[in-house]
Amino acid sequence: MVDGEWAERQRQLTAAGLLVLGKAAQERIQRLSDISSLIEAAQRSNVVMLSERAVEEMLTLVPSDQTIDAPPSTPRSEQATLPDPESQSTIGRTLAPVGTPVLAPPVRRYGLDHYNLDDFPMQAKDVDAEIEIHFDITGRSTTEGKLQDIRSCFSDRLHQIRQMLIAGRALPRRPISASEAWRNRQRHSSRDYEVTLVGLVSVDKWSKGGYLWFDIEDDSMQVRCMLKEPTGASSFHPSLDGLMNDDVVGVSGHFVIGNRDPYFSVSDIHMPPLGMHSKAAASEAEAVSAAFLSDVHVGSKTFLAPQWEKMIEWFRTDPLARTVKYFVLSGDGVDGVGIYPGQERHLAIKDLFNQYGELARLLEGLPDWVDLMILPGNHDAVRPAEPQPALDPEVQQGYSDAVFVGNPCDFSLHGVRILSYHGKSIDDFVAGLRSVTYSSPELAMRAMMERRHLAPSWGGKTPLSPEPEDRMVISTVPDIFVTGHVHGHYVGNHKGTTMVHSSTWQDQTDYQRMLGFQPKPCILTVVNLHTHATASIPFA
Ligand SMILES: [Fe+2]
Ligand SMILES: [Fe+2]
Repeated sequence: MVDGEWAERQRQLTAAGLLVLGKAAQERIQRLSDISSLIEAAQRSNVVMLSERAVEEMLTLVPSDQTIDAPPSTPRSEQATLPDPESQSTIGRTLAPVGTPVLAPPVRRYGLDHYNLDDFPMQAKDVDAEIEIHFDITGRSTTEGKLQDIRSCFSDRLHQIRQMLIAGRALPRRPISASEAWRNRQRHSSRDYEVTLVGLVSVDKWSKGGYLWFDIEDDSMQVRCMLKEPTGASSFHPSLDGLMNDDVVGVSGHFVIGNRDPYFSVSDIHMPPLGMHSKAAASEAEAVSAAFLSDVHVGSKTFLAPQWEKMIEWFRTDPLARTVKYFVLSGDGVDGVGIYPGQERHLAIKDLFNQYGELARLLEGLPDWVDLMILPGNHDAVRPAEPQPALDPEVQQGYSDAVFVGNPCDFSLHGVRILSYHGKSIDDFVAGLRSVTYSSPELAMRAMMERRHLAPSWGGKTPLSPEPEDRMVISTVPDIFVTGHVHGHYVGNHKGTTMVHSSTWQDQTDYQRMLGFQPKPCILTVVNLHTHATASIPFA
């Protein structure tokens, strides 16, 4: 955005009595295509100061740039507010009185940029399925969970990402081991004699001066590091955004040896290289599309059954639906049983097998030409440690014609490489990086791509299975990267990869309401595998 445009925005904000605090807040506002919803949300919530955090909070109350508007029957944003600070209530939203919904047919908005039938020319029934699985842990988990397995997993991660750093020429010089650098710390104690190390990060804290302190560890030893913000750093730079525990990074710098313990002053930090990706495409004769959804949460009282019927009706009647060859369900198909304390009172179906039975019945409504792929998530009946294997064969029996795979799954559809990951680690990215919030899961996905790892942190909120090879490393850059789990919705692009945060079929839960989180349910994301055109179809 040019300065003039920002000045105009600032004028509008000032006229609305709003004050923007800090560069990060300004940048966040500059990224919005329109600020009227932000102004409205702030005024409704009696917010005057727009810090970055306040902007993020306001944006949870309005539809984001990338999602299409909900149809007029669900005016969510108009009724959303933050809590009144005086009220002592943790619940800030005033929800509309819910009457019995009358199902209107799905909105068909042909000819729009995001919904142009000409972009989706093939009939799915005329094209044979072509699914190639590159990675799926099902039946291949070899860990016994011993200390040795944990060591090999981390050692493999270090090796894989170090190779990416070296092969991608991301380092200014050949890296040396931490112990070699430490042995020669006197020699490497000035800017003229910098060295480069590569290792696993263990984050300590930000000091009062705003410096990030962390340890970096390789096979030989651990070295304490200090990272200052370089001039002109973007808010995504690790000095401002932070690092995740167990990230693999390169650091260049020198030792500072004074009265206190020596430490390594980092002048440059190196992440694995991620250039502009050139996407593979299905041939013109296979220009079918894939639909993405996750978090259906069948069995929950907040599962949106009427909207599901609307989607099934769309599949039966809409011309665009005839192009949908694949339907990828990226985890949390059911709500599960015993996933969190007190879950039972939120369940409409209390038996796990009955939940899977109901999901199978709901999916039966899809037309015959649609091939289903089903991954597990953290609510499913498989081990929670990732990589997770596919659902149990006993559960699979209830489904005719579905391909069950593990989580994550790296696969190709007609040569288009897709990485689908349920997204549990987004919880860790929200806790670990300043840029990531629950309302911006795409920034967690961006962070995963930039560090080439789906779930780096051991001992955080994501249980990990220490396989001898760390298959949570993103070894091949996908053409389409899909996650779910946090019940948002996003379709966009990061350095050439199509990024899809697939939508949920569960309405706002009590827990989400308490946190002030507004999900974006009932949006089917459709991607044309030939042109990579995308469409987001709302059924709410
Ligand atoms: Fe979920
Ligand atoms: Fe989940």
